[in-house]
Formats: sequence, C-alpha cells, structure tokens
Amino acid sequence: MDVMEAIYRRRSVRAYTDQPVDKATVEALIKAATHAPSSMNEQPWAFAVIQEPRKLASWSERIKTHMLKRLKPDSPMAKYRKMLSSPDYDVFHRAGTLIIICARPDTHNGAEDCSLAAQNLMLAACSMGLGTCPIGFARLWLSQARIKRSLGIPDVYVPVFPVVLGYPSGETPPVPRRAPEILLWQ
Ligand SMILES: Cc1cc2nc3c(=O)[nH]c(=O)nc-3n(C[C@H](O)[C@H](O)[C@H](O)COP(=O)(O)O)c2cc1C
Repeated sequence: MDVMEAIYRRRSVRAYTDQPVDKATVEALIKAATHAPSSMNEQPWAFAVIQEPRKLASWSERIKTHMLKRLKPDSPMAKYRKMLSSPDYDVFHRAGTLIIICARPDTHNGAEDCSLAAQNLMLAACSMGLGTCPIGFARLWLSQARIKRSLGIPDVYVPVFPVVLGYPSGETPPVPRRAPEILLWQ
C-alpha cells in the first residue's frame, strides 16, 4: 500500500477481534514511529506498550470514573457524559494493545513530535491491515504522577499520545472531511 492509499484508508477503528498483535509487528510500528521528523532532531519519544486485556478493561473503568467526576457541564466534553456512564463503553474499544507515546523531559516540542510519531505509527499500521485509534480520553488519567509511577513511566515523562492497536473486526466507514479552507495562495 502506498502512502496516499494509507492516508485515505486509515480510520479510527473502534471494534477489534481478539487476535493479538505480535511483538515483531509492534516493534516494526514503533520503529516506523521513530522515523517521524522532530524539532531540532530531539527524537523525544518513548513508548509504553500494554498488551494485557484485563488490565486495559480495568483502566477503562477507572478512566470513566475519573472523567465523569471532572466533567463540567459547560465543557465541550460534556456531550460524552452518557457514553462514559455506560457500562458497555470501553475507553480502549476492547483493543488488545495500547501504546502510550510519551515525551522525554527537557525537550522542546514533545507534543508535536510525539503526535507526528503517532501518525507514522497509525499509517504504518493501516498499511499492514491493522486498525488504530487515538485515545485522548486516557491522557489526563495517565498523566497523574501516581498512575505513571504504578505503570513504571518515569514521572518526568509526559504521556502525549495513547493509541490502541488491533485487527479490525469489520469495516469502519470514513468520516467526511470539510473542504480545506485556503486562507492565502499568493
Ligand atoms: C488527539 C486525539 C484524541 C482522540 N481521542 C479519541 C478517544 O479518546 N476515543 C476515540 O474513540 N477517538 C478518539 N480520537 C479519534 C477521533 O475521534 C477521529 O480521529 C475523528 O473522529 C476522525 O475520524 P477518523 O480518525 O476515522 O478519520 C482522537 C483523535 C485525536 C487526534
């Protein structure tokens, strides 16, 4: 699959089979992620991989509780209250693999660089027939010092981009795009 095809085929996949993704595949995707450009070539990314479905299911419950407690009625996230309250909703979409892309301390554009790494990973996964979905819902919970400590992520690292990975259990329809807004073309 060429890169244009991967760009147009990638979807945020929210339904996965139980088939685990093997270590070599995850390693290949992480390597692809590290070929992203980075500000001042700092390559600030570090990766935490979790492939324990029971752990992910339990984190999902904790994340939902954490978010519901903090949801302000006027927040743009308030529209997710009902979804987050549902016992059926799994924050990680029951994917078997979570990769947390973290920024190293003392780097300058960790959020941008790690997001570029994430896009590389997601496009590479798509080209290999795998599905991915960014999980912004997990970011605040994962960023708590005590949670990072319990996971073994050093406190000075910043979780920037959690993304789940797995074999899609069906087709995901494309989300329509707005026409690009061209501000200037001089
Ligand atoms: C930073 C970021 C955070 C996101 N967080 C979530 C999330 O927590 N859960 C989820 O299901 N999708 C999440 N998404 C996926 C978006 O909803 C999705 O990219 C958007 O609807 C467009 O659909 P597409 O990715 O299939 O093109 C996130 C995307 C980004 C870029």
